Amino acid sequence: MTLIEWREENRQFHLANGHLSYILAVHENGALGPLHVGAPLATGRSYRHLIPRPFGGFSNRLGDPVALECPTPGSGDYRVPGLVVEQPDGSTVLELAYRGHRIVAGKPPIPGLPATYAETDDEAETLEIDLADERSDLVVSLSYTIFRDVAAIARSARIRNDGSQPLRLTTAMSLVLDLPDADWDVVHLAGAWAREHHVRSRRLEHGRQSISSNRGTSSAAHNPFLALRRTSTTEDHGEAIGVALVYSGNFLAEVEVEPYGTARLRVGIDPETFAWILEPGAQFATPEAVVAWTGDGLGSMSDAFHRLFRERLARGVWRDRPRPVLVNNWEGTYFDFDEDRLVAIATVARDLGIELFVLDDGWFGKRDDDTTSLGDWFVDRRKLPGGIDGLARRITELGLRFGLWIEPEMVSERSELFSAHPDWAIGIPGRPGTEGRQQRVLDMGRPEVVDHLERVLAELLGSGPITYVKWDMNRWITEPWSAGLPPDRQGEFFHRYVLGVYELYRRLTTTFPDVLFESCASGGERFDAGMLAFAPQAWTSDDTDAVERLKIQWGTSMAYPLSSMGAHVSAVPNHQVGRITPLATRAAVAFFGVFGYELDTTALSEAERSGIRDQIAFYRDHRDVLQRGRFVRLRGPFDGDGNTTAWMCVSDDRRQAVIGCYRVLNRPAPGPDRIRLRGLDPRREYRVSVWPVADDAVGRANTIVRSGDDLEAIGLLIDVGRHEAAGQGDFWSRVFVLEAV
Ligand code: DGJ
Repeated sequence: MTLIEWREENRQFHLANGHLSYILAVHENGALGPLHVGAPLATGRSYRHLIPRPFGGFSNRLGDPVALECPTPGSGDYRVPGLVVEQPDGSTVLELAYRGHRIVAGKPPIPGLPATYAETDDEAETLEIDLADERSDLVVSLSYTIFRDVAAIARSARIRNDGSQPLRLTTAMSLVLDLPDADWDVVHLAGAWAREHHVRSRRLEHGRQSISSNRGTSSAAHNPFLALRRTSTTEDHGEAIGVALVYSGNFLAEVEVEPYGTARLRVGIDPETFAWILEPGAQFATPEAVVAWTGDGLGSMSDAFHRLFRERLARGVWRDRPRPVLVNNWEGTYFDFDEDRLVAIATVARDLGIELFVLDDGWFGKRDDDTTSLGDWFVDRRKLPGGIDGLARRITELGLRFGLWIEPEMVSERSELFSAHPDWAIGIPGRPGTEGRQQRVLDMGRPEVVDHLERVLAELLGSGPITYVKWDMNRWITEPWSAGLPPDRQGEFFHRYVLGVYELYRRLTTTFPDVLFESCASGGERFDAGMLAFAPQAWTSDDTDAVERLKIQWGTSMAYPLSSMGAHVSAVPNHQVGRITPLATRAAVAFFGVFGYELDTTALSEAERSGIRDQIAFYRDHRDVLQRGRFVRLRGPFDGDGNTTAWMCVSDDRRQAVIGCYRVLNRPAPGPDRIRLRGLDPRREYRVSVWPVADDAVGRANTIVRSGDDLEAIGLLIDVGRHEAAGQGDFWSRVFVLEAV
């Protein structure tokens, strides 16, 4: 199957897979521009009529919004550029013109950077177009991969200096999308620690609107994802373009609406904190941006990202394996534990059906609080006299897997590592270094730091039966400066930091291919597609409150699959917001993620233990559809008063579905409320059951056999009637299961 067409006579490329079309043309002056990005169009035709006329080169009329793939300063284009290169004379103007192209089967990797991939050559096709600026000997290779089965295109760029003098890159975007109109709402994920990924939406306006991070991580303030949607676009109807950056550091996603009402979207490393010297012969690779287009609403856009990220971004044996139900001791014990206490927690956990025990912060150095020991990755024998190995063996003998928390990128000033290598901590000599959470960040851009961490962590991970690692990162970077870089290269600091993190991840995941890695940065401060390439799951948020999690998981699902979202049941009153929610509701929310617990199992009452046994049995029975099914958002916490949320997972064969419905506050005298389902087979009959099993009005009304079309057109009854309301209470939830009969 040909996915990329080159029409020599029209100098036109057409990437098409039946889900979308991306059409590019070489203009008369050699510049490369998009003709269409969106709905699938027929191949075998010229679309050059879409080039605005009259067209006589860029400077024909200054400021004309000619659509370009790699806009640079100069040429009468006053919009934000995709590429800025300072040349030896200090100028930045370039005239990039088409030089040639290659179409290759599959998808080549991007050196040093995470990226989506094709497992076989027939899954994807890649177009690489070389643009060259003759005067500066700069060559830009734009790469476009179209996937056969997903409505998405991956785009990146390589910038090469073929000249004899150094060049300085100050902007190197991964993607520029010039769109012919600005009639879009921009949707993005904003937040903070413990309230990550809240969905925000606003109308595009004239001027520049952006989201970004300058903290060294992708951050919870803004996620490296945005979508454009028509005002009329809903979850299941209408046009949307989503863009996610496969990158874990400082990023910029910006839309500029220029005077004539066209829109330019650019996404990539934030130019604000970036400059890179390109020596003669050297090349720079940008991170990859993934563009998803759909005509069927935000749900289809998310589905494209979910499939691609779950199946062709995540790697390793855990990509396709069911993820274990875990218990993490952090909220159960914080720093206050010893071996016997941990084994006691694990023993109860095993009896409840939990599969993996994770030892969190506090097991190393002399760490009884957060003031000390980061960097000293050797066990604290006061707490664990038998070492990690001794504890891991006791846990393993119980029949559980064992997992361990680390925070490799950090150092405490009170640590042996800091005493030995104070210069490895990021900071500017002569200026005070800012502590955050009483810790400093290691300069991951320095190869010796990565080598050291690889050595000590490989020794640690090899020291016992460790099958899971939670890789945390708990503060941002301030005072960026590296002792390993000369003054003129300090602009490379942030990107080199991220490359160092990726390199350490690459080495450890290669040496320990059977270990399941979960990334974390105080929860979701670095929840991005770059991390998912190494760690197939991430701790979504430190906020485990069921009500807050509805918003966090709903927002996260805009771009990221459920198999990537760690979601745990914790104790009440909740440690982040003090709220008391029913145990079943906490589980009903956490089911829609990679399920686990974050509490002291020994403190549970008999009734709670029995409830948890039931939860784990339910999750294990439905784990496949919950971790790998199609996720459908039905009613959202950001819609209307946000009081009701409903979502569901449907198996690929549409024979099974699990639906979660949640009401935050109960209201008196409600009318009947129905949740209409989506994604079912309309002609099939489904047996509906309700979890937890309860002989109440909702249970009685819904426990029947119904057809797919009935469930989609009319839906599940969740507010049965005004006389039943008193029995429901606040923070109510129900999970429904559909099985084809
Ligand atoms: C922040 C993480 O998000 C928590 O889950 C926990 O691991 C703490 N760090 C430990 O310091």
